[in-house]
Amino acid sequence: MEIKVEIKEKAFMKDQKSVQVLDDIHLTFNSGDFITVIGPSGCGKSTLLKIIAGLDVDYEGSVVIGSNEVKKPSIDKGFIFQEHRLFPWLTVEQNIAANLPLKKPELREQVNQLINIVRLNGFEKAYPKELSGGMSQRVAIARALLREPKVLLLDEPFGALDAFTRQHLQDVLIDIWLETKTTMILVTHDVDESVYLGTKVVVMKSKPGKVGHVIPIELPFPRQRTDQTFQEVRNHVLKHFEQLDQYSAVEG
Ligand SMILES: Nc1ncnc2c1ncn2[C@@H]1O[C@H](COP(=O)(O)OP(=O)(O)OP(=O)(O)O)[C@@H](O)[C@H]1O
Ligand SMILES: [Mg+2]
Repeated sequence: MEIKVEIKEKAFMKDQKSVQVLDDIHLTFNSGDFITVIGPSGCGKSTLLKIIAGLDVDYEGSVVIGSNEVKKPSIDKGFIFQEHRLFPWLTVEQNIAANLPLKKPELREQVNQLINIVRLNGFEKAYPKELSGGMSQRVAIARALLREPKVLLLDEPFGALDAFTRQHLQDVLIDIWLETKTTMILVTHDVDESVYLGTKVVVMKSKPGKVGHVIPIELPFPRQRTDQTFQEVRNHVLKHFEQLDQYSAVEG
């Protein structure tokens, strides 16, 4: 599904004044892209993602996915929030199934497979309050994947995870992406993560949020962090990121 994002302006009201958050954003993503978005805190990454998801329609411009303009959230756009947003009164497996019938054998099987993938075996009947932040985020990831969305939007999904779990889930996400060709748009503030996962890295700058660079990453998958070419590409992205970040710090 090709995604075309045209945001002329997005503003929020603050102290009865309008504050511009996004300015003149034009992006086109191809079907099957793995887009990563990096930028300083507050530059509007989550806002951009919510607009693409149809969770925020109060802006000037348009988002078109395939041949449809996005006007509201829908089942074909999965969203994983910065914080996990689980139902506290449901168990892990019930949270993953949510509104789908867990009693159905095929669904049961799919849920079990996903629990394996995100390594939550043994916690099927646990409640969110018994889970760590990272475990809760893994439940949220499984919940989104169960719905086999055409576009999966992920807002810093691995921010709360330890390094091992983070790297494991990055690889899981790549496997799923290679297998399903789901278009992924993932926000992160980790340059390493943006290069490890992305086919294109969108580097944003702030005040107001704009796109600074779109850098294609042509390294084949699976990628090796220790490879010299990986390090070179990473340094290249880091340089762009730091330049823009400095620029926005001076401006702010
Ligand atoms: N609902 C809202 N009402 C008013 N202002 C908002 C709202 N949501 C976001 N903002 C403001 O818009 C700007 C961008 O916020 P956003 O959450 O998109 O940033 P971000 O890049 O995701 O930051 P972070 O990396 O910290 O998650 C911030 O200045 C924030 O204060
Ligand atoms: Mg955010």
